[in-house]
Amino acid sequence: MSLACGVDIGGTKILAGVVGDDGSIVEEVRVESPATDVDAITDAVSGLVADLATRHAFDNVGVGAAGYIDKQRSTVLFAPNIAWRDVNLRAELEQRTGKSVVIENDANAAAWGEFTFGAGADIDDFLLVTVGTGVGGGLVLDGSLYRGAFGIGAEIGHMRVVPGGILCGCGNLGCYEMYASGTALVRMAREAAECGRADGLLKRAGGEVESIDGPLVTTAAREGDLAALSLLGELGRWLGEGIASLTAVLDPAMVAIGGGVSEADELLLEPAREGFLSQLTGRGHRPELAIRKATLGSRAGLIGAADLARR
Ligand code: BGC
Ligand code: NA
Ligand code: ZN
Repeated sequence: MSLACGVDIGGTKILAGVVGDDGSIVEEVRVESPATDVDAITDAVSGLVADLATRHAFDNVGVGAAGYIDKQRSTVLFAPNIAWRDVNLRAELEQRTGKSVVIENDANAAAWGEFTFGAGADIDDFLLVTVGTGVGGGLVLDGSLYRGAFGIGAEIGHMRVVPGGILCGCGNLGCYEMYASGTALVRMAREAAECGRADGLLKRAGGEVESIDGPLVTTAAREGDLAALSLLGELGRWLGEGIASLTAVLDPAMVAIGGGVSEADELLLEPAREGFLSQLTGRGHRPELAIRKATLGSRAGLIGAADLARR
């Protein structure tokens, strides 16, 4: 079996793994993500790759990164939620690891992983929406990963959904990810707790509004907390309405929802489907695509990045 290394640089952790050509993970390692310090991220990634290289034979490394990657798969031009600005990550990592490296957008890598080995297998027109720190998009059109003219296609998190809305990390107002991401969920939950509308969540957080995080909301919702259920419902509706707009443009056969918040399963997906159907243009006169949970979980990015590195 031919092996490649895949890395996924997330907002909270960096995952790296050695992946077979059938998508199986031979070994996986992880560290906390030093999210604000770009040099520390480079160090952490090269450390993980070097560690794996002591035990496995691979030449190619694919790195999924949450930012705008140029068409050469080398430079992070910009990232809304990490301090990368025109960083040639490929050159830095090749120099430090001695391997051949490609940089991919994290959501593109995850979509490729899901298309090749997961929820989108055999679906030639497939959109993955990742719901985490930001909202990521990965699009497979006619069986190929869509990159756009400059490598920055499918940045769906930065569609404007609210004119004059909340300020996004990208500098614009009212982006989709300000309303449909895990970060948005936490913001809404903390706001609700501050106004006395989420006492159950506040109690779980030991009375500290700042201790409310996404997994806490999801756990509370699973256990029937009404405020948590309604917050996931609101997030899901935003998510689904955005997918309706994307469907008007792209007409995918299936949309999968990935990222950490997709762990809420139907508590997120059900309202997402409702929001989607409420805004779908031509409803009743067109096929209604399925919205499903992605199947590779937090490993989609590294599996997809490893596979892309081989191509
Ligand atoms: C970034 C994307 C990324 C997504 C998910 C967005 O804020 O602009 O590049 O794919 O977050 O991490
Ligand atoms: Na993308
Ligand atoms: Zn934005």
